[in-house]
Amino acid sequence: MTTAQTPQLDVQPSPLALLLLGRGADPRSERGVECPGDLPEPSDPDLVARARAAKEKLGSKVFVLGHHYQRDEVIQFADVTGDSFKLARDAAARPDAEYIVFCGVHFMAESADILTTDDQKVVLPDLAAGCSMADMATAEQVAECWDVLTEAGVAEQVVPVSYMNSSADIKAFTGKHGGTICTSSNAERALEWAFQQGEKVLFLPDQHLGRNTAVRDMGMSLEDCVLYNPHKPNGGLTAEQLRDAKMILWRGHCSVHGRFSLESVEDVRERVPGVNVLVHPECRHEVVAAADYVGSTEYIIKTLEAAPAGSKWAIGTELNLVRRLANRFAPEGKEIVFLDKTVCFCSTMNRIDLPHLVWALESLAEGNLVNRIEVDRETEAFAKLALERMLALP
Ligand code: 13P
Ligand code: SF4
Repeated sequence: MTTAQTPQLDVQPSPLALLLLGRGADPRSERGVECPGDLPEPSDPDLVARARAAKEKLGSKVFVLGHHYQRDEVIQFADVTGDSFKLARDAAARPDAEYIVFCGVHFMAESADILTTDDQKVVLPDLAAGCSMADMATAEQVAECWDVLTEAGVAEQVVPVSYMNSSADIKAFTGKHGGTICTSSNAERALEWAFQQGEKVLFLPDQHLGRNTAVRDMGMSLEDCVLYNPHKPNGGLTAEQLRDAKMILWRGHCSVHGRFSLESVEDVRERVPGVNVLVHPECRHEVVAAADYVGSTEYIIKTLEAAPAGSKWAIGTELNLVRRLANRFAPEGKEIVFLDKTVCFCSTMNRIDLPHLVWALESLAEGNLVNRIEVDRETEAFAKLALERMLALP
């Protein structure tokens, strides 16, 4: 795979997007996380050759995973690419690789550590690559929520289903309380499983994926869902509301997908007659309800692969992926536009750039283990239980 060419999109990154991309801001620190070593300069013309040489030196000792939202300059070095579900499976399937270099975000690297053997080391090239949605549910808040459910007399009927986009602590809570993890590609199966185990689901941290799956895929009504706000006493809900609800949705969202609006769908339908609107289920409910197709990043790619020449598509997901797909499918006569003019890249996914990857690979090649992501044993045991329940879903 080569690095990015000029985008074939009718959208240019906004000044905000460029700032979040690190052009204009210091790309080496976010949320106070500094790179602990000497990063190569982004302008170094030898970066590609250096990454290639370090990877070759490491040989089969290293396995590089790349999420679909990664930059082209990084994805070209991935041994496999995928959505979060596929990458979790791919990480677990490589027990021979001593180092798993995860080009994605923190929760994905944690999951890889949980699913790999104790001898394997998972490395995240930039520790500032977090996820704002995962940060919206802390272990303390979720423990408090469980107390609220217990006081309302419903905890025993509740099965937690946690989105992959959550910390290892939340995954461990889920495992401990008989629940499962899900991703955007298996959320419906996870909910079906959960409703076989209990009468209610606590879905966290993404309210939109929970609501969209419950209403769009499982035939529930919006009234079956209540929103638990961790910043309000008792989640802002009465005991009666909790007793009446089927889905208790955590008030979290993705800051990238949350910005697509119903107006963006209506606008693109007007601008591009005959367009198919294809969005990620992290989008708001009204966006998903107005879309033609809904699915994970892997589903989005497969749908476009199967699309006929001459078809037109507006994609509602992160811009790195949409831009790559627009470039890839343009020669086949498939027209791909970004769903919205203002939505930007995922700033944390973009923290992983070529300088960080080169630094991580060269450090490993020199025998220095850097930026290891390691989940403690107790958390790992319960989180693994929840992840394995997900991997065992039919
Ligand atoms: P996927 O599971 O579709 O790859 O989504 C991950 C993610 O972070 C979407 O925002
Ligand atoms: Fe998190 Fe949204 Fe970025 Fe995905 S796109 S990693 S959910 S902030």
